[in-house]
Amino acid sequence: MSSSAAVEIDGLRKEFGDVTALNGVSFDVRDGEFFTLVGPSGCGKTTLLRILAGLERETEGTVYINGQDMTGTPAENRPTSMVFQNLALFPYKSVYANLAFGLKMDGVPKAERRERADEMLSVLNLEGYGEKSTDELSGGEQQRIALGRSLLTEPDILLLDEPLSSLDVQLRKEMQIELRRIHRDLDSTFFYVTHDQEVALTASDRIGVMRDGELVQRGTPQEVYERPNSPFVARFIGKTNIWRGEVASVTGDAVEVITADGLRIRTTTDDPDRGDVIKNGEVHVQVRPERVTVGEDARDMENVFEATVEDRIYQGDDILYEVRVGETSLQVQQPSKERTVLYDVDSSVNVGWSRAASYLIKDGGR
Ligand SMILES: Nc1ncnc2c1ncn2[C@@H]1O[C@H](COP(=O)(O)OP(=O)(O)OP(=O)(O)O)[C@@H](O)[C@H]1O
Ligand SMILES: [Mg+2]
Repeated sequence: MSSSAAVEIDGLRKEFGDVTALNGVSFDVRDGEFFTLVGPSGCGKTTLLRILAGLERETEGTVYINGQDMTGTPAENRPTSMVFQNLALFPYKSVYANLAFGLKMDGVPKAERRERADEMLSVLNLEGYGEKSTDELSGGEQQRIALGRSLLTEPDILLLDEPLSSLDVQLRKEMQIELRRIHRDLDSTFFYVTHDQEVALTASDRIGVMRDGELVQRGTPQEVYERPNSPFVARFIGKTNIWRGEVASVTGDAVEVITADGLRIRTTTDDPDRGDVIKNGEVHVQVRPERVTVGEDARDMENVFEATVEDRIYQGDDILYEVRVGETSLQVQQPSKERTVLYDVDSSVNVGWSRAASYLIKDGGR
């Protein structure tokens, strides 16, 4: 294995009776990386994290942490610390008592515990909170204390299981940014799991997408968003317009796809096997809503269609349209600028996008 991998997972399987929670998962997480595993409810994320932490035993496969085979190593001897989905602060105790819990268990003297707790409070942007009772804290503050408590044990690898799920949207957004900052300020590897694709995109260096106990794609947020390898990933990460279709022609890197609804979509491929693999094959083609232009400017684009506006949602920063093109509904997201023209429901408009904006997915499956 490469020396820069903090975690290496090799052929991991986990069965609970006749439920297969993990079906042969292999990948690695680099030292110091913010890695996020994302996938729908029940796909095996928590199970994987618990196996890494030593709280659950694998049915098959091996976990290496810092190059060491962890098979049979109990949780307390692993260089990991886990922040659970339902945060478990001690109620009616001070922030200090909560933060320093792990240090106390390790026999660190009181004065040093104080000092380290104060340092952590400053990392968490919660200076002066030490004497407060946890009941006086907001949800986001409690979340940060739970995080701080794990970080204070100085784990090489911090395992975070949906730690933001109890927060409201605004706080969750703030905490995503906070987490990134805290990660930047420390040397730990963050291994984060969530079903919230937005957290994954915002906070991570790399993400892995899971489905039914398998890892289906891994890459930077940009790679996974721009180049999903299956319709499942395309739909799960971000909003998208996606069609199943057949390749009608391939000329150099230019590809034309005819969708099941009869749209002819011009796209492109950089796949070196394009000729053999996709000619006359079943594929998917997607275009993200924010890459679609609506109105006059759409006319000169490589893909242009006449559409009818079915719905318009003004969001302040963006305007969302749902438009109909023949048999197909299309989502369009336009930034709202000064003098943006708003198109009314039932009006006719052109929608268009470039060849490069529509991404070809070789997978013709679900
Ligand atoms: N202790 C257990 N006993 C039996 N089945 C389990 C156990 N833990 C998990 N499972 C099953 O394993 C599968 C994966 O569960 P897991 O908790 O890992 O999913 P998850 O991806 O974390 O989902 P969520 O996003 O809802 O938290 C599910 O089908 C679940 O019902
Ligand atoms: Mg879970």
